[in-house]
Amino acid sequence: MHIILMILIFTLVSIGVISYYINIDMSIFMISILIVISSAILYMNYRLKREVKDKFKAEERLKALNETLEIKIDYELQRRIVQDKALEQQTKMAAMGEMMDAVAHQWKQPLNAITLYESLLKSDFQDGIVDQKYINDFLDNTTMQINHMVNTLDEFRRFFRDNQNIERVNIKRSIESLQRLIKDDFLKNHIDIEVNVDNSSEIDIKENEFKHLILNIVNNAKDAFNENGIKKRTIKITSRHIKKNIFIEIEDNAGGIPLHIIDDIFKPNVTTKAEDKGTGIGLYMSTQIVKKYHGALSVRNNKDGATFTLVLPLASSLD
Ligand SMILES: Nc1ncnc2c1ncn2[C@@H]1O[C@H](COP(=O)(O)OP(=O)(O)OP(=O)(O)O)[C@@H](O)[C@H]1O
Ligand SMILES: [Mg+2]
Repeated sequence: MHIILMILIFTLVSIGVISYYINIDMSIFMISILIVISSAILYMNYRLKREVKDKFKAEERLKALNETLEIKIDYELQRRIVQDKALEQQTKMAAMGEMMDAVAHQWKQPLNAITLYESLLKSDFQDGIVDQKYINDFLDNTTMQINHMVNTLDEFRRFFRDNQNIERVNIKRSIESLQRLIKDDFLKNHIDIEVNVDNSSEIDIKENEFKHLILNIVNNAKDAFNENGIKKRTIKITSRHIKKNIFIEIEDNAGGIPLHIIDDIFKPNVTTKAEDKGTGIGLYMSTQIVKKYHGALSVRNNKDGATFTLVLPLASSLD
């Protein structure tokens, strides 16, 4: 704009000077000035129109870009939802496999016991020592074993009940219920689980999700004990209250998290296990569950193994 103004002034001055020297008529001078001014105005008008047009085009382009961006974001979101669903399903199947394994272990011992009682009954009957007391004892023993099997199955069913609601869960009782499910498997693997958790701590959560969280962590410790050939195997579960949260620490002496993955272990598909042994989604799903309840899950290596810290809001703090 400044340049145009300068050119205009320069042209006017030039015309003035030229007309003065060559002494032409004043009206011709005025007409020339008018022609120059109107051409300048026309030119400025043209520039302005072009600018408006350019701006309009840029806006149109931006709008189109926004629209494609929105479509792209929408598509990405949908893709993530499908992916997350698939991951969740995968974890559920993996956990189901692990639980089936635990149930099989839990059932082996009572089934063996019942088979033994049966064969004893047959030979004792032939020996003539089966009386009323024998029968009563036999019934007591077999009933106890069958109850053990039924309880395992009930725990298993509760674990996979789908439409579970968020409820007030007593942490200690829930961990003990999980312990009953995995007892034989952990006994077989010579793993001692010490639970030192406050009796009255409660959180609002879907109970199977809470058990799932703990199961993922202790199962990883079990794998690490076996991979690292640890002799004396202990998992300690402790809790403490800080402000309105409960801190649950799960500490093992299984050798610790390999340093090259420790910063990434909560990401999906991070695993050090063979394809048939682990998929690397256990801890990822655990963090997803924890986040849903406004908590946090972290890990650090201790002297002999790994310590996972699970923080969840206490139920009383939500009232
Ligand atoms: N207590 C632990 N001690 C040593 N390493 C561990 C421990 N917990 C987890 N890790 C390491 O973290 C990795 C990721 O664990 P995560 O549970 O996410 O997957 P995964 O156990 O490999 O497979 P998945 O749980 O899906 O079957 C494991 O492969 C293992 O290397
Ligand atoms: Mg795992």
